[in-house]
Amino acid sequence: MKIKRVAVLTSGGDAPGMNAAVRAAVRTGAALGVEMFGVRHGYSGLVNGEFVPLGPRDVGGIVQRGGTFLGTTRCLELKTETGQCRALQQMDEYGITGLVVIGGNGSQSGAHILSRRGLAVVGVASTIDNDLLGTDVTIGATTAADIALEAIDRLRVTAASHERAFLVEVMGRKCGYLALMVGIAGGVESIVIPEIDVDPEDVARDLRQASERGKSHAIVVVAEGARYDAEGLAAYFKAHQERLGFDLRLTRLGHIQRGGSPGVFDRILATQLGAAAVQNLLQGYHGVLVGWVGGQVRRTPLGEVANQSKPVDPQLIELARMLAT
Ligand code: F6P
Repeated sequence: MKIKRVAVLTSGGDAPGMNAAVRAAVRTGAALGVEMFGVRHGYSGLVNGEFVPLGPRDVGGIVQRGGTFLGTTRCLELKTETGQCRALQQMDEYGITGLVVIGGNGSQSGAHILSRRGLAVVGVASTIDNDLLGTDVTIGATTAADIALEAIDRLRVTAASHERAFLVEVMGRKCGYLALMVGIAGGVESIVIPEIDVDPEDVARDLRQASERGKSHAIVVVAEGARYDAEGLAAYFKAHQERLGFDLRLTRLGHIQRGGSPGVFDRILATQLGAAAVQNLLQGYHGVLVGWVGGQVRRTPLGEVANQSKPVDPQLIELARMLAT
């Protein structure tokens, strides 16, 4: 059956570029003669029928805005049979037969569930964590990395002035991508990521070696999902301060990393993926995620993406090791 109405939603943690993706989806749909709807508040809005008609002018002036003007939630209800039935019922009532889901891991698992129940769904890869399979990079990851990098550069200024060592914690859930990117780009002395079992004594060794090489200050980037997060490391260093000899200052960047205005890469990526999602839906390609692979828009079955995690590139880990000298 021909798709005449398509809804678009943003779900999970907001990511810079989500608005650009919604804008592209809405305008592409309109150009292809489809009635477009936005869903407020992610999957919760789908379950509760919070649909708003969106025309090309309704998505004007948002390409540069971080966050998502549609709102987003982490919706537990969609994991239940009742929640899924209600979502499908709401779409049915509005005569909406196609759905675009812009979000990360959890959101695409939800998209997969709805797709298995017969809905025409296309996912758009968007999360600052960049932990989704089916794409080299997700919408929002590079902007978040830029924000974290700017913070690290600033911390280095004060670290150098006081000859201090800093622990900086970045987001990423169980994925070390952000930490690795900003660690390499920021030229830091030690990087702690969940993918490698790092002991506080390893960090102490990195700091000691940096100091022996003549460095007067140091930055350690820690991924929030590491076995020892920044707080854990700080506590360890405090408990063993006499022996280890470092007085570490701690900065958790937290949600600051999500709130920026999308950079050029994220705006273009989001625009390409948002447009491709609607094009794919209308061409009959459902149950897929659209992502960026090898410099091109590619689709991957949601079944290969849902409930999975993309590993970080081992070559980058090796590069980080080599450069921290
Ligand atoms: O998935 C994006 C992310 O920002 C993670 O990096 C982080 O662990 C999580 O969301 C935080 O979630 P919330 O905003 O719900 O606290």
